[in-house]
Order: sequence, then C-alpha cells, then structure tokens
Amino acid sequence: RHTPVVLGIETSCDETGVGVVAGTRLLAHQVASSMEQHVAFGGVIPEIAARAHVTEFIPTVRAALDEAGLSLDDVDALAVTAGPGLAGALMVGVSGAKALASAAGKPLYGINHLVAHVGVGFLDEALTAAGPKEGKQSPAEAERAGTLGALLVSGGHTEILKVRSLTHDVELLGSTIDDAAGEAYDKVARLIGAGYPGGPVIDRLAREGDPKAFRFPRGLSAPKFVGTAEEPGPRRHDWSFSGLKTAVARATEQFTSRGADVPVADVAASFQEAVADVITAKAVRACQEHGITHLLLGGGVAANSRLRELLGARCASAGITLTVPPPSLCTDNGAMVAALGAQLVAAGVAPSDPSFSADPSQPV
Ligand code: KG4
Ligand code: ZN
Repeated sequence: RHTPVVLGIETSCDETGVGVVAGTRLLAHQVASSMEQHVAFGGVIPEIAARAHVTEFIPTVRAALDEAGLSLDDVDALAVTAGPGLAGALMVGVSGAKALASAAGKPLYGINHLVAHVGVGFLDEALTAAGPKEGKQSPAEAERAGTLGALLVSGGHTEILKVRSLTHDVELLGSTIDDAAGEAYDKVARLIGAGYPGGPVIDRLAREGDPKAFRFPRGLSAPKFVGTAEEPGPRRHDWSFSGLKTAVARATEQFTSRGADVPVADVAASFQEAVADVITAKAVRACQEHGITHLLLGGGVAANSRLRELLGARCASAGITLTVPPPSLCTDNGAMVAALGAQLVAAGVAPSDPSFSADPSQPV
C-alpha cells in the first residue's frame, strides 16, 4: 500500500511551520518564527504575527518541499491548523493552504492544533530523541492499547488529554482556567525584570536559586476547589496559575517596597518548583484515574529542566511511560500537522469540506 505523503502547515501563533511526512517518516521540517518582532512588546502581538505569516508562508512551503526533494504534485494531501489559535494568524494559514490545495487539486485537512501536538508523537523521530530504548512502547502502540495520554504545556495552552483514538476520539481531561503555563513564566519573568520569552531565562536563573526559599501556591491542587453539578467550577484536573503569579508579585514587592534587591534566583527557583510540582502532580493523578500508562509531552514548556526531571521521576514511580519528543517537535511546527494529516489519510478519514474556516477557539 502507498504510504501517504502529506504537507502540513501551522500558523496558529508566531511560528510559520511547514512539514512534510511520508507516513511516520519526517521528510522536511521548516519553521520561520516572528518571535524577534514580539520581544520589544513582551508578548506575541496578533497583528504582527499574522503579517509575518503572509510574508513567510510561500518561502517556508518552498523550503519544506525543497528539503523533501518533492514538488506539490508528489504530495497526496495537505493539512493545515484550523484552530485553536490567533484568529488572524490562523486565517493566513487556512487561506494559503486552501489556495495551494485547490490549485494543485489535492485534498485538504483542517487540523486541530492540540491533537497535532499529539500526532507528532507518532513520527519515528519522536522516539529516537533520547536514543532508542530497547523494548520501549511507542505512543502509537499505547494508542492502540487505549492507554495513551498527552500533556501539553506552552505559552498558549496547558492541557491533559486522553487519546482513545488519535483520529477519532481525543478527550480533554483538564486545562488551565486562566494563564497557560508558559504565559505564567513570561509574566513572572517580566515581574523580576528577566526579559521575554521568560521560560528559558527563569529556567537558567532557577539553577542558582533555592526552590524552598518561598512557598508559592499550587493552584487548584486541593479537591475542594472542584466544581459540582449545583455549583459549576473548575474540573478535577484543571490548573490555575493566576494566584501563583500574584503570590510572586507580592513576594517581590516586599523587597522593592523597602528598597531591597529582589532575590531573583530564589524567586525563580521557587516559582519554577511550584509550576513543575502542580503540573506534574495533577497530570499523574489524571493519568492514574483515567487508565493512562503512556504520557506524551508537548509544547514549548516541555523544554523546562525541572518539569522534565519531576515528570520523569513521578511517571517512573507511577509506572507511566513518558515520551518527550525533541524540542523542535515540541514547540509549534508544521511537521506535527503533517503527521496528524498522514494518520487521518491512513485511517480513511475524509478531507475537510472546502468551506471550512479557521476556528480560534476550536475544542479538541
Ligand atoms: O510552544 P511554544 O513555542 O509556543 C506556544 O506558546 O504555542 O511555547 C513558548 C512558551 C513560552 O511561554 C516560553 O516562555 C516557554 O514556552 N518556554 C519555557 C522554556 N522554554 C520555552 N518555559 C519554561 N522553561 C523553559 N525552558
Ligand atoms: Zn502549540
């Protein structure tokens, strides 16, 4: 049987990503980021991101096809992120993908960005990240066994998913009710004057600090915060990071208000410990309660050293296999969209209706 070759396009935030896959094999992986243009603003500016996608769209598609040594005629299908994400940014990708697909006479799949973060785990490259491990179960095998879950942590999202079927049945078990994990990093970095994006800077600072210097809150870690039928509220596996951010602000004010230097390394280490602790504790609990024995990590915050360490340790003691794809496949990219597209083609799923649109708040 012919292995489907799929070109995937991602434009939901600040990365113009284009990838090409043949089944589970990665043939091309190109990313153009507009991050440098957002640094001065301390956050992604949607209009700037959308304009950058307009500029980068065709060159990135070209670069990916060149890298794969293919032309658009050789591709069986196209896939593009339809949502969730920034409206203007998504519309550039969806419009561009529709134009390419209709000009080349190829089917087009509108893809969910969160599910695509899971789809990348089905690529051969996702497994070889830490060196091949003999006998290690792959995410695809776990999916077939009905035991796959995914933890997505980035600047735009924080979710725990149960993946009953990658192509047909993905359930959201929990998500953040306020800031995303990476957003919390970026806001705290601004508070302590550490620059943007904050994740890598705080990760580095934290190495010189004491994670026990401050006891910052772990939002929603106590079951009493969970909503009921009578009083709807957060779900059992939801996170909240806004209280943590406020606690960090209060702690730093205690120093600045009396003209003292903020112990930035201790604040960074204590903040990072709180984030890693609450993310991993709640993720592992969700896995245990939902029969998940294989967890796939995704998103930019997957690069965080403490999160990886603590998640690795807690998964190991809970008997959960952890797969962490290489960093360039964890952050937003087109390969993940292509990877999910190839799985949809292989599963015989019909392409999207040509009238589909971008959906900034698309659920999983
Ligand atoms: O997935 P990503 O590249 O873009 C989206 O937000 O979708 O993630 C970027 C986020 C930023 O908030 C950045 O601060 C965070 O990931 N990040 C980190 C680390 N590296 C990047 N957060 C914590 N520790 C890191 N080492
Ligand atoms: Zn993402």
